[in-house]
Amino acid sequence: MARTQGRPEALTLPLRHAPWEEHADFAIGLAPVDEAGWLEGGEADPAARKDPLLAAHPDIVWAETPASRPTQQEALALVEAAVGRAAGRPDLPPLLAAARLVPDDLVLMEKQAGEWRLTALSLCAPTFFSAAEVIGQSLKALHGPVTGFETRFLRRVVRIFDRLRPGVILQRRNWTLVNSAEPFAPDAAPIRARIGTIAPEAAGDALHLRVERQSLRRLPQTGAALFTIRVWLTPLAELSDDPARLSAFAQAWRGASPELRAYKKLHLYDALVETFLRAAGESGAQGRPASPK
Ligand code: HEM
Repeated sequence: MARTQGRPEALTLPLRHAPWEEHADFAIGLAPVDEAGWLEGGEADPAARKDPLLAAHPDIVWAETPASRPTQQEALALVEAAVGRAAGRPDLPPLLAAARLVPDDLVLMEKQAGEWRLTALSLCAPTFFSAAEVIGQSLKALHGPVTGFETRFLRRVVRIFDRLRPGVILQRRNWTLVNSAEPFAPDAAPIRARIGTIAPEAAGDALHLRVERQSLRRLPQTGAALFTIRVWLTPLAELSDDPARLSAFAQAWRGASPELRAYKKLHLYDALVETFLRAAGESGAQGRPASPK
């Protein structure tokens, strides 16, 4: 696979999703997608990226509960059918074999004693968490760090999991901004520690829009749910080529809710983003004042 500065090029592609254009706050934002649109592809050899990560960081990128093997097997069959190719790795846990076929990270959720729990996952593009941290967790615990999740969203999300019909595929997107082009980002601290070294005029290249495109579907035989996470990374500079998208991003940045800004720690990037936006022609005249909070 072609690589630039040691990182996979395949995940750094022209802007494909722009979820900031849709919500200024946290949102469930699930929408149906057809079978052909289930997995987005776009990476020639996902295993070439994932295998070294598994060797170097096994506890960060992989976890399973022993009882999840039948569910993993069902997920593998579904993924193999979708990509039209057999994994051919009976030596591996089935979900791990499935994850080597696709760019996406794969997460299994199973209902146990009335709670949806995470029972297996392959997580090679984590956004600030690890497989070891989340294995066995409920939907409530998984979202503990998300401001207001329990009061605003938990019941609705549980109902979506409960009522999901086989054959229905749902997708959602989220976004954040990071000073890294690396899909494998289990820990925010070393990345954020480098913010101060970024020259303001380099902000457009150093800062990346990090979009997660997620999907959810029922596994009909076991009744489990398969959740997928596909990370897309795009340098902020790419917005400069498209005035409409640049303006939409400027509005989203300056209009994001205080809760969202605090959760994503957007204030850490305010000065750099404002420098980038002004240089690109977005003065901020119609947005909120640019002063960092
Ligand atoms: C499909 C139903 C789901 C919905 C509607 C949902 C919603 C959300 C929302 C609103 C956030 C805050 C950031 C964002 O906007 O995305 C979030 C964060 C997160 N979600 Fe979900 N989620 C769902 C399923 C899952 C599943 C199945 C997992 C299992 C891995 C998961 C793991 C997480 C994690 C780890 C975070 C970040 C928490 C942190 O900051 O540490 N979510 N989710």
